[in-house]
Formats: sequence, structure tokens, C-alpha cells
Amino acid sequence: MLPTVGIFDSGVGGLTVAAALHRIAPALPIRYLADTACFPYGERPPEWVRERAVDLAARLLEDGAGLLVVACNTASSAALECLRERFDVPIVGMEPPLKPAVEGSRSRRIAVLATPGTTSGARLARLAAAYGQGVEVARLPMPGLADLVEAGEVAGERVESMLRAALAEPVATGIDGVALGCTHYGFLRAALEGLLPEGVRIIDAAEPVARRAVHLLREAGHDPSMGEPAEVLAQATGDAAAFAATIERLRAAGADLPPIRLEAQAAI
Ligand code: DGL
Repeated sequence: MLPTVGIFDSGVGGLTVAAALHRIAPALPIRYLADTACFPYGERPPEWVRERAVDLAARLLEDGAGLLVVACNTASSAALECLRERFDVPIVGMEPPLKPAVEGSRSRRIAVLATPGTTSGARLARLAAAYGQGVEVARLPMPGLADLVEAGEVAGERVESMLRAALAEPVATGIDGVALGCTHYGFLRAALEGLLPEGVRIIDAAEPVARRAVHLLREAGHDPSMGEPAEVLAQATGDAAAFAATIERLRAAGADLPPIRLEAQAAI
């Protein structure tokens, strides 16, 4: 039997990872936990995010997860090491895809879009030190952008003006890659494509992270390609109807989402 993959994020952002995982391995049982009661994480202190991440991970394990994906850059930046020390299951985290953005850059100029927590966090600083030598990395904190996505707003004037304001200068200096450092921003690909000049790549870590999870399952002797397609079981810590409404709005906007079965609100 395939182990359940437990995924958590502050809201709908990690569904970009769940979607990639479902695309690669449709039969894989996935349990998704959206911490909407505490959304957004991006402007909270890292210590707070760390404690909360421990509680969410513990719940997913209680609910039978055999592998965890921290589908949130902010929570990974604050808590990944701590979670790995604490829990005895494989844990896959997210980080802004700075390395592939740098590797694919000819102009040697890239931008990273992320929450304030991630742009100021130690993880991004480490990545920039390791892979950003000789490359100009514009770190663009985007307070409020994940909030729009969390409300199901992935197109239109508010989203575009926020992105335009942040990207104008880096685009003028000749960036040729934008690394998405927040899982919510995966839902903004179409808006970004509409704003960025041709030739500027958008680099999203959702699919590589999903591949990493599948790789770990294979290493542990499982075959995630077997079996009938499964629905993603999803739960929010906040209002379940509001979470359902956001998912519907995202679907209506053409977002790539897996089949989802919503469960009642999770009290954590
Ligand atoms: N989806 C989360 C991330 O990847 C952030 C959204 C939030 O601020 O809670 O960083």
C-alpha cells in the first residue's frame, strides 16, 4: 500500500505542489492541511512559524502521513531543520528556486519574488551565497500578494499593479528569470507571463519538489505509479466554506488543481 503524503501550507499555495504530485503520481494518497486560521505566515516571526509548523506536522502524522512536504517557503525557511530533528519520517521542504534560475541565466540577473519572511530569512541568504556569486539577485518581498491569491484573486488590476510595481526596475535592468519563492505565486503564472517581456523565464519549484517526494517514496521501495487515481483529502484550520470558495474561484480562473475532497474544519 502506498503511504499517504501529508502536505501543509498556510493556505491554498501548497495546492500547486499537490497538483504537481497528483499529475506525476495520480494514485498517491495525499492529505492536505491549509492553516487558513493563521494565514498569512509571510509577516510572522520565524519562531512563531516554527512552533506552528511542528503542530501541523504532528497532526498530519497522527492522520497517517508517511512522508511530509512542507509546501510553504516561509515555513520551510523557519522550520525545516527543526521538523527533521523532531520527526522520524522523510520531510521535503521548499526553497526559492534560485539555483535553477541562476543556472539558466545568461544576463546574470534574476529576481526572486517571495514573502517578506522568506526574502529576509537565512535560507535565501544561504542560497544566494552558495549559488548567486557573480549574479545580481533582486529579492522582492511582496507583502499582501499571497493574500490576494488566498482570496482566489489571480488576475486583474490589483494583482497586476502589485507585480508591475515590484518588477519594473529588475526588468529594466535586464533580468531573464523570475524565481517564485512562495507557493501561492504558482497560481500567478498567467498574470506574470502577461507582464514579463518575452524571454524572461518563470521558475517554480512545485514540480521539482513533487518529483523529490516521489523519488523518496521509490527509494523506500514504493511504486507510486500503481493504482487508481485518488482524490486529495483537504482540510483547513479556518472556515471550511471560505476555503472551499477560494478553491472554486481558483478553478474558475483556470488554475491547475487536483481533484479535491474537502473535509470539515481541523481544530489545531
Ligand atoms: N505559501 C507560503 C509560502 O510559500 C506563504 C504565504 C503566506 O504568507 O502565508 O511562503
